[in-house]
Amino acid sequence: MKKIIIAMDGHSSCGKSTMAKALAKAIGYTYIDTGAMYRAVTLYAMRRGFIGKDGIDEEALRAEMPQIKITFGHENGQQYTILNGENVERQIRGMEVSGNVSPISAIGFVREAMVKLQREMGKTGAIIMDGRDIGTTVFPNAQLKIFVTASDEIRARRRFDELEMKGEHPVYEEVLKNVRERDYIDSHRAVSPLRKADDAIVLDNSDMTIEEQDKWLMEQYLKAAAD
Ligand code: DC
Repeated sequence: MKKIIIAMDGHSSCGKSTMAKALAKAIGYTYIDTGAMYRAVTLYAMRRGFIGKDGIDEEALRAEMPQIKITFGHENGQQYTILNGENVERQIRGMEVSGNVSPISAIGFVREAMVKLQREMGKTGAIIMDGRDIGTTVFPNAQLKIFVTASDEIRARRRFDELEMKGEHPVYEEVLKNVRERDYIDSHRAVSPLRKADDAIVLDNSDMTIEEQDKWLMEQYLKAAAD
């Protein structure tokens, strides 16, 4: 088997990370959640007061970009995101970060810094990277590219369930609104908008169980990595 790069792109809350993590575990690959990286930058900007009612103070954020260090840690088989030495996994998944992350991830210099870091993290191969622009921008030569999607109502329901499991009390309509807003911003931004790479395989998992999608992904991997 070849050691390959697997690029998983697609809409928010369509189960990309669940699938990607399961495959990474099964085949011993490193999983990299690039959405978590944009979320960590967003949390940093929120804490520093760079996101206000009138928008984002881009100049202040630009000046501090070199001080933002993002890495991943592992505990009991679970991956967590580290921002400047602090485990911020819980904070970056809340509604407040979710509400601010799309405009932050639309900023050119933020993307440049993250793409550089992602290429660095992926240079050894044997990785599964999930995001929005992995197959189009970060690793255009990835040997396997998957574009995952599902209906917006189903994605909102999945996100809603996930937030409830974490003890939050979301309102379904707000979660749906957030999913739609993020889709719109992610697909219409000037820099690296979310789009399917020409050579990506599409997976609509609206009506699939987790087992079915895991099996489907494993088959794609086996084909792509065969010597
Ligand atoms: O996958 P996620 O929902 O955690 O991603 C959070 C946000 O980050 C999402 O609104 C789009 C953005 N993102 C991006 O622009 N590029 C990536 N490679 C990954 C995420």
